[in-house]
Amino acid sequence: MALQSSMREQISGLGPWFHNLHLPDGTQTSPDHPFGDFPSFKWQHVASAVPDDLTGWSVLDIGCNAGFYSFELARRGARVLGVDVEPLYVRQARWAAREFDMKDRVDFIEGDVYGLLGASQHYDMVWFTGVFYHLRYPTLALDLVRRATRRLMVFQSMTMPGEERAVVPTDVPLNRRELMLDEHWPKMAFVEHRVADDDSNWWVPNAACVEGLLRSAGFEVVSRPEHEFYVCKPVSVPAESSRDLARIAASIAAPTAS
Ligand SMILES: C[S@@+](CC[C@H](N)C(=O)[O-])C[C@H]1O[C@@H](n2cnc3c(N)ncnc32)[C@H](O)[C@@H]1O
Repeated sequence: MALQSSMREQISGLGPWFHNLHLPDGTQTSPDHPFGDFPSFKWQHVASAVPDDLTGWSVLDIGCNAGFYSFELARRGARVLGVDVEPLYVRQARWAAREFDMKDRVDFIEGDVYGLLGASQHYDMVWFTGVFYHLRYPTLALDLVRRATRRLMVFQSMTMPGEERAVVPTDVPLNRRELMLDEHWPKMAFVEHRVADDDSNWWVPNAACVEGLLRSAGFEVVSRPEHEFYVCKPVSVPAESSRDLARIAASIAAPTAS
């Protein structure tokens, strides 16, 4: 009992928590989460779409938060690097890694998805869930994720309601731009202010847009195990998509404008 209350004190000292982790002694980090047992109930649906045995796989978990997915993937044998911009979440994840006795399989560092611009590492799997819509430069991030992915990428984004897709022509004549007014045209809603009182939300795509973005970054969707989740394998990147990333990387390596 005393042990549990000291555990609860530690959890509360590290709060607030977004991930409800079930710790080995039975305590939970966010038992009253407004979404329910989050993200465990998501994982129940996604788990079977990811290989059971990840022995020898390297995984990058971008926006890892308190590390729920990092821990699940490490339990399957992967060596996981979790990265998050928020120092509080990195502290939570490191603390939980000690509680789970998984420090030899997971590392957590403070970092930004855009940090991939200066990195040359590749990972067998990149886990990229719950981050896309928080980014002001989401397509840059997706292109960087593609560059870092060797075998599999798991993507999730908040989306606009609806699954319908407009038939999109391969070319839109300038005088036919009204085609883009079709309600099912691939699109992202720009959020200048807030969604759910959160000012870190910037872009909310519809499902057609997610699929187009993934294709244009060089991913093929292999399954959709849960609403808004896409399991993807890397395929070749369309030439017109890779041009800008190459230019950005080059201008960072050798800046010309002053
Ligand atoms: C909605 S939570 C998703 C957490 C977890 N990936 C999941 O799917 O449950 C978004 C997470 O992304 C992190 N994040 C936001 N912008 C980021 C960025 N530019 N680079 C890395 N992490 C970021 C946030 O700090 C937060 O932990």
